Amino acid sequence: MDLNAVEPGCGSGAWTIQAATQFPAAQILAVDRSPLPNRFLPANISFQIADISKEVDFGDEKFDIVHTRFVLFHIPNAHDVLRRIAQQLVRPGGLLLIEDIDLLSYVGTGPASRHYISMVKQMYDERGIDMEIGRKIPETVRALRDFPNVQFQKISLPFGGNGPDDSLNGLGLAMKQSFVRGGDVVAEVLAPKGFTHEMAVKYREELEKDNESLVDVYFCWASRVG
Ligand SMILES: C[S@@+](CC[C@H](N)C(=O)[O-])C[C@H]1O[C@@H](n2cnc3c(N)ncnc32)[C@H](O)[C@@H]1O
Repeated sequence: MDLNAVEPGCGSGAWTIQAATQFPAAQILAVDRSPLPNRFLPANISFQIADISKEVDFGDEKFDIVHTRFVLFHIPNAHDVLRRIAQQLVRPGGLLLIEDIDLLSYVGTGPASRHYISMVKQMYDERGIDMEIGRKIPETVRALRDFPNVQFQKISLPFGGNGPDDSLNGLGLAMKQSFVRGGDVVAEVLAPKGFTHEMAVKYREELEKDNESLVDVYFCWASRVG
């Protein structure tokens, strides 16, 4: 029988498309609360709109592979969402693959970034979002009875692109750019809480010069007992 896979929070569909292309006999369901961008999709991909914080139930269908990447750190009560994704979607013998970030591993390089981080942490706490979810995924999955063998790898991405591993340097630089873009958006959200335009400018300056910070991402995989 051909394999099937689902990717909750597929975003642009990057992983889904790569998986569908590499495994043309597999059926892959991409899921997001926003539509996919208008782009070519291999025929073995289908797409469904869903808010995975509310529903992760695709009929009775279970999947051989359930993959989600950089999604849980956006979502309130993400540990509950993770438990539901694992229990409802992974078939016995199937594989759960979760990749996510530990945003609190970023400590910044000066007062502006430290102030920014503390305000973001306060906002996340108020919204029930776990900034450190990446680091905690293995223990949440391990606590599920059906996933006894949880493996994970932590990878620290260097903002300066100056680490010993060239393959990670590009990712580190890209992560820093996403912090710069995300910082502008978050600064607007924090404005009513007193994060001023001047603070945002100082944070951005500090971030752009930051060649020291490391940000940890976690790759966790576990198979469900058959
Ligand atoms: C940072 S992007 C990651 C996209 C993709 N997984 C990747 O690695 O390229 C986060 C994605 O999660 C989706 N997302 C966030 N909260 C969601 C929710 N409650 N239900 C479904 N999708 C959600 C967003 O729409 C966005 O596409």
